[in-house]
Amino acid sequence: MIRPHGSDRLKPLYVMDEKQRRELEKEALGLPSVVISSAAAANAVMLGSGYFTPLSGYMNLKDTLGVAENMYTGAGLFWPIPIVNILKDTPAIAKAKRIALRDPNVEGNPVLAIQEVETIEKATEEQLAFITEKVFRTTDPAHPGVATFNSLGDYVVSGPIQVFNFSYFETEFPETFRTAYRVREEMSELGWEKIVAFQTRNPMHRAHEELCKMAKEATGADGILIHMLLGKLKQGDIPADVRDASIRKMVDLYFPPNTVLITGYGFDMLYAGPREAVLHAIFRQNSGCTHLIVGRDHAGVGNYYGPFDAQAIFDKEVPAGALEIEIFKADHTAWSKKLNKVVMMGQVENHTKDDFVMLSGTKVREMLSKGEPLPVEFARPEVAEILGQYYRSQVS
Ligand code: ADX
Repeated sequence: MIRPHGSDRLKPLYVMDEKQRRELEKEALGLPSVVISSAAAANAVMLGSGYFTPLSGYMNLKDTLGVAENMYTGAGLFWPIPIVNILKDTPAIAKAKRIALRDPNVEGNPVLAIQEVETIEKATEEQLAFITEKVFRTTDPAHPGVATFNSLGDYVVSGPIQVFNFSYFETEFPETFRTAYRVREEMSELGWEKIVAFQTRNPMHRAHEELCKMAKEATGADGILIHMLLGKLKQGDIPADVRDASIRKMVDLYFPPNTVLITGYGFDMLYAGPREAVLHAIFRQNSGCTHLIVGRDHAGVGNYYGPFDAQAIFDKEVPAGALEIEIFKADHTAWSKKLNKVVMMGQVENHTKDDFVMLSGTKVREMLSKGEPLPVEFARPEVAEILGQYYRSQVS
């Protein structure tokens, strides 16, 4: 199976040994503690899962700035997005060597991890703006990822962590949530070696379905890993449980048996477009995938990124050899009225613009919120039914 990123073996920071975990949990009760941001908690879940191999914890300010600037840590590790624990204030943990990180997303704020504090550094406004500009390519506070980043605070708390649980992800999505090591195990049990990963934060529409099928065919993959984001989204995006149900229905009815693994990971959406696409590639490599599909406006939002910027970054900014996973660059897919099927627009002949119906998650959400039925060009009828039910439940 493909090597993890920057390491010969996966490095999940979840404490596997139960006895050791119980002891650490006991220790945590006596430590200074702090309720961390949802972003930092999601980082802990990803670190615990092995998805962020080979990182051992949260980055310090120097690494954060380096990663933002040129996608490298001080130690020379290729990494596209700062993995940080940023706090608004630090009196509760001042001078502490070890601290308990409490989960903001679970009632009672149980301890999610213990952090060994290496540094507490106050970032300047200029440094925070620099990070935002580099990672999101904008400092516009209307950008949902920028807004979240701006709300975190300015104290960067670095150091290694030991993770105790997977927050609400394993309890709310027991069928779907997976760690990277579990994904690797399952794929190896299936005997899959070449695997194409599909990132999604949407229910899967016809374009998504066909993209997966085309990518499997073109890469000669043994299977497809549908890997959906289970964490927080911007207002208006479709919640994970509804997406999960519609994806399961689609795979059940429209994919050959035993060709798809339906899974999810515990992370909040950043909407960082190109930089997030590179992070996506790293954690799919860590999950054992050989290919990642990157299509139109991957991890994008609004008009902040060009439709294929998330593909271009792999050619223009990711140094050769930095990643082992390969990118399946998908052209814009659309429904051809002439051929009555979803096609890659650049690959069909004798078509003008009017011969296509453009498919997009945004358009689907707009139609659903107006109570309009989804045509077959957009969604399978069984998927449309699940989504329609959800939208009707929202207005009633
Ligand atoms: S994302 O934020 O998770 O990237 P989404 O779930 O909509 O959003 O997209 C999942 C993947 O499908 C991404 O790689 C995206 O680029 C691709 N994609 C979605 N719609 C299309 C389309 N019409 N044409 C080409 N690629 C698409």
